[in-house]
Amino acid sequence: MPGIFSRGHTAADAPAMPPKVPLPAPTETLEQPAAAAPGAETEPLSFLRPDDEREPAVAAEESPVEDVVLGPTGRPMPVFPDPPPLTSHGHARVISMCNQKGGVGKTTTTINLGASLAELGRRVLLVDFDPQGSLSVGLGLNPHDMELTVYNLLMQREVTLDDVVVPSGVEGMDLLPSNIDLSAAEVQLVHEVAREQTLQRVLGPAVEKYDVILIDCQPSLGLLTVNALTASHGVIVPLECEYFALRGVALLKTTIDKVRERLNPGLEIDGVLGTMFDGRTLHSREVMDRLVQAWGDKVFHTVIRRTVKFSDSTVAGEPITAYASTSTGADAYRQLAREVSLRWLDA
Ligand SMILES: Nc1ncnc2c1ncn2[C@@H]1O[C@H](COP(=O)(O)OP(=O)(O)OP(=O)(O)O)[C@@H](O)[C@H]1O
Ligand SMILES: [Mg+2]
Repeated sequence: MPGIFSRGHTAADAPAMPPKVPLPAPTETLEQPAAAAPGAETEPLSFLRPDDEREPAVAAEESPVEDVVLGPTGRPMPVFPDPPPLTSHGHARVISMCNQKGGVGKTTTTINLGASLAELGRRVLLVDFDPQGSLSVGLGLNPHDMELTVYNLLMQREVTLDDVVVPSGVEGMDLLPSNIDLSAAEVQLVHEVAREQTLQRVLGPAVEKYDVILIDCQPSLGLLTVNALTASHGVIVPLECEYFALRGVALLKTTIDKVRERLNPGLEIDGVLGTMFDGRTLHSREVMDRLVQAWGDKVFHTVIRRTVKFSDSTVAGEPITAYASTSTGADAYRQLAREVSLRWLDA
């Protein structure tokens, strides 16, 4: 019995296609960014499913333009060259890693983007601005052994930046550590003059010295996060490629807009980063599709795929670029470092 795809069969022999399953209706959380993001009104983008999950991009065989390569976000994948080497250091760009949803990859991105930028010759300072202290622990520090932390820097005028900065274990990258003490600052800062500008004030000397300062925010939109946004030139929003991750993004955008209007007119959204992406699931690809519809070009072409190597490297107290230097996770963060550096050149 010949199969249906063997010669001699006509289209009429083929079984009917199943009806198209519509995408779920857009949630209200996505409507607001859609209006604000340039290019958000673009048509839904086609997807090409990567055959090899290890490759960040795949050849678009069905694309009308030859040799166009579609990335995991469904858009043509540019090549990101290394940024030009720096001849001097200082005038740091300050970036907050911000999303009030927990467990989306803020700390993982802070550590690994920082380490990748250091590999590119940038002087990097990481600021642990979360009382959970995950960034400090993720770089091998013991929260009980810290003499001075960001808390002391914020609350005690006699404590200087140099008193608190410690090496991160990665060449070219330093750390301002934190532990649970920082939770008291949120309460005490309420009584301070210019309470929203406190972090900006204490980071002043660091801006002169470093090329990039990455602030790892806690999962809330409270006073500490407002301090981080006020001290920053840009925000990177890590977003887990999971449907519920899209909820609450409108609230985050409103907070960023308010800080821009009232405290920091220069604040920009540097990019939205899809994390824990799994290209084998339709779900991950649909979420990515929606992110691009809502945020347009703000979505980084680079996505971070789900891999246990990230948890393993946290246990080892190292960035993935050191723990598993040749892994796809390390390569993804190196690519993000190049992509974001090119955006900063245009900023
Ligand atoms: N791409 C990834 N693939 C798999 N696991 C990941 C990935 N990125 C992060 N993780 C793991 O997910 C967990 C949460 O990540 P992370 O701590 O970076 O999130 P977070 O947004 O900083 O969380 P919180 O809001 O609690 O500060 C960690 O155990 C981390 O190792
Ligand atoms: Mg964190």
